Amino acid sequence: MTLDDLFSAAREAMAKTHSPYSKFPVGAAILTEDGRVFTGANIEVVSFPEGWCAETTALGHYVMGGGGRITDICVTAERLDECTPCGGCRQRLAEFAPPDARVHLTDQAGITKTITMVDLLPLGFKTEILST
Ligand code: THU
Repeated sequence: MTLDDLFSAAREAMAKTHSPYSKFPVGAAILTEDGRVFTGANIEVVSFPEGWCAETTALGHYVMGGGGRITDICVTAERLDECTPCGGCRQRLAEFAPPDARVHLTDQAGITKTITMVDLLPLGFKTEILST
């Protein structure tokens, strides 16, 4: 699985978007260290706040697929180059992705920028208290 393949997986997921309201298709692909890829697109609902992001769909597939160590995440959008995950998705991604996981942003042709999870969500909320 190359980064080009990961980009392609995110684009293929994006094609499955259900975004009739915003008409803003987004795709996400999560790669684990054992080479598995979990993808998602944004899914909107006529009651607008009930829709959710591509990253959240991908995380659902990741969890139901058994999880694993996340090494790379790619997010792509049809109408915006270098579309970054929203605040809520940053928190959701940080729940599962380690701080050094790479987050790849794209234009319409491929990956153009790579940052880390901790760059994406510095000072993110985390505590052991709630899990002990
Ligand atoms: N969206 C995502 O799927 N991921 C992001 O990182 C940013 C925004 C979606 C939510 C909504 O369906 C549409 O893009 C417009 O906000």
